[in-house]
Amino acid sequence: MSDLLKQRHDWLKGEIHRHDTLYHGQDNPEISDAEYDALRRELEEIERAHPEWVDAASPSQKVGAAPQSGFGKITHARPMLSLGNAFSLEDVEAFLTRITQFLSLDYTPEIWAEQKIDGLSCSLRYEAGVLAHAATRGDGKVGEDVTDNIKTISAIPQTLGGAPEVLEVRGEVYMTKQDFLALNTAQQEKGDKVFANPRNAAAGSLRQLDATITAARPLSFFGYALGEVSHPIADTQQGVIQALQSFGFSCPNPTALASDAAGLVAYYRQVEGMRPDLDYDIDGIVYKVNDLSLQSRLGQVSRSPRWAIAHKFAAEKAITRIWDITIQVGRTGALTPVAELEPVNVGGVMVGRATLHNEDEIIRKDIRVGDTVTIQRAGDVIPQVVSVDTQKRPEDSKPFPFPDTCPVCQSHAIRAEGEAVRRCTGGLTCAAQVLERLKHFVSKSAFDMDGLGAKAMEQFYQDGLIQSPSDIFTFAERDKGSLTPLRNKEGWGDLSARNLFEAIEKARRVPLSRLIYALGIRHVGEVTAKRLSRHYGGFEEFQRAFTAIANGDEAQREEALSIEDIGPAAVDEIAGFFEEDHNREELHRLIPQLDIQADASPETQNHALSGKTLVFTGTLTKMGRVEAKARAESLGAKVSGSVSAKTDMLIAGADAGSKLKKAQELGVMILSEDEWLEQAKETA
Ligand code: IVH
Repeated sequence: MSDLLKQRHDWLKGEIHRHDTLYHGQDNPEISDAEYDALRRELEEIERAHPEWVDAASPSQKVGAAPQSGFGKITHARPMLSLGNAFSLEDVEAFLTRITQFLSLDYTPEIWAEQKIDGLSCSLRYEAGVLAHAATRGDGKVGEDVTDNIKTISAIPQTLGGAPEVLEVRGEVYMTKQDFLALNTAQQEKGDKVFANPRNAAAGSLRQLDATITAARPLSFFGYALGEVSHPIADTQQGVIQALQSFGFSCPNPTALASDAAGLVAYYRQVEGMRPDLDYDIDGIVYKVNDLSLQSRLGQVSRSPRWAIAHKFAAEKAITRIWDITIQVGRTGALTPVAELEPVNVGGVMVGRATLHNEDEIIRKDIRVGDTVTIQRAGDVIPQVVSVDTQKRPEDSKPFPFPDTCPVCQSHAIRAEGEAVRRCTGGLTCAAQVLERLKHFVSKSAFDMDGLGAKAMEQFYQDGLIQSPSDIFTFAERDKGSLTPLRNKEGWGDLSARNLFEAIEKARRVPLSRLIYALGIRHVGEVTAKRLSRHYGGFEEFQRAFTAIANGDEAQREEALSIEDIGPAAVDEIAGFFEEDHNREELHRLIPQLDIQADASPETQNHALSGKTLVFTGTLTKMGRVEAKARAESLGAKVSGSVSAKTDMLIAGADAGSKLKKAQELGVMILSEDEWLEQAKETA
């Protein structure tokens, strides 16, 4: 029994760690907050029964995820804590009892209540009234240096009048629901990543190595706490909020003061009712002991303070009808069922579609066209169908027949043993897959072609201009002889057509790893592609090895399996890819169009730039930022967004500003663009 429990404990540790990385590290959660909280609660329960299993590696001992590489690191002067959760009136009562007993008081101290903002927490350090630096929470002890990015947010004052020598303001960077919807529409039009919710959009926008991207994103900030202060500015939380407002910060409204659970919960209900009308996402209420001297007496337990607790809201739900169930076909042929809903407002966001995940999910919940369903937007995931009201089901309703052919190309769709997903077997004859693969081919992490986003690609595909990756590179030539050249087409002009062709021209020069990733082979993500690229060194070698594997060469197979992180599933998929005639034919057309560059290999690891941390600033004239960064990384260097003591070199283009100044102050080596190009050219 205990063995099973131990196994469960181990599994929970790994699973929570994985979700922490997805949420904090990649801003890309897979599960809802509620599901995550349930995992954490289970872990904590087991650890209460078995304290001997708790070690430093347990997620119960950590706050958030370790900071991402790429940013400088900042050690918080005072740790940034997390909050314990309450889910019911009883939990709130227990919180008050704990405090009262801990302080040996014969009355319940006054509690301040305010909204819990669903954004990204940040600590802003002001020295002599000037914003000195800003950091994300990171793991609570060390965060990422996002100073340059924070400085682009207009809601954050750069200077404070009358502030103490040192003042750290803590609060939440967030994006309003309206700004979030507008950003996603713009992203979609450009064919760029769309965000699952305002929180991810805020996090993704703040954590850009290039602060000019952050500047273009509509971020806002609410202050709600202090970190280090050289001189007290208030003696209650209420006073802190008033002081922050007098410095020019916005703080969430309304707030409340109460001395019993009933009063706090009344405020909780009031705000819950306002939630759909608020222009920003909140996920609960935070209760804080109002008196700061009591707060410091109460102190903290592991990752959270004793003097505060978060009273979480339930996931936002709404009832609506399913008009239709459609099937989407993805790049790898996966058939995903989607519920087409009568649009409904869920917590301030209009929802018209919900994912049904897969065939089994439809059967398990018995979801049918015409059903009245409860949908849920958990604040961090794509809307889901939670339950079906079978009472309201039309009499003639029938179970949904999951298709066994692809709705786009009519090829067989089969479900391999042990897999949840049914896949179209049409491969490159399936228009849906071809189009999705083409979009993937030109996406940011692959060939990254400016001006050739998802929308343009769809148009070119439908017009028969681009049907395969190699067509992209012959497009300009064909366009020259065309009776209706691109520049005369609707939505295009001389300049935009020229820019597109230039971007395509530039993209011919591609690191091997990006090419491998762009092929869109299942199980071959960016990291796997990099490992393959480093191992094989050239496309020919790569193709030769996997063609041999497809033909049964065991030695080659062994070698492939010896590469870190590459398992049998990836090897089989890659070998399968090269076995297909149409893939080989396409590669035969594509490869001669390209100028394939080696990624950092063990040899380039000896390059002078290898292991160095570089920062680019100002305007580069000979190559864009993206290319410069890729070039540096291919030589084994790291590129950071801000200058710190750890910076090895600053490459200063035209009109370099504050970073150049800082680098000079810190004595960091400074290179001109030409000097950098010289350095970047040399091999070993
Ligand atoms: S107080 C020591 N107040 O919630 C506690 N936190 O789940 C310091 N948060 O890490 C935090 N709104 O990022 C506080 N009004 C609020 C908040 C708030 C959102 C975040 C904060 C914290 C997380 C804990």
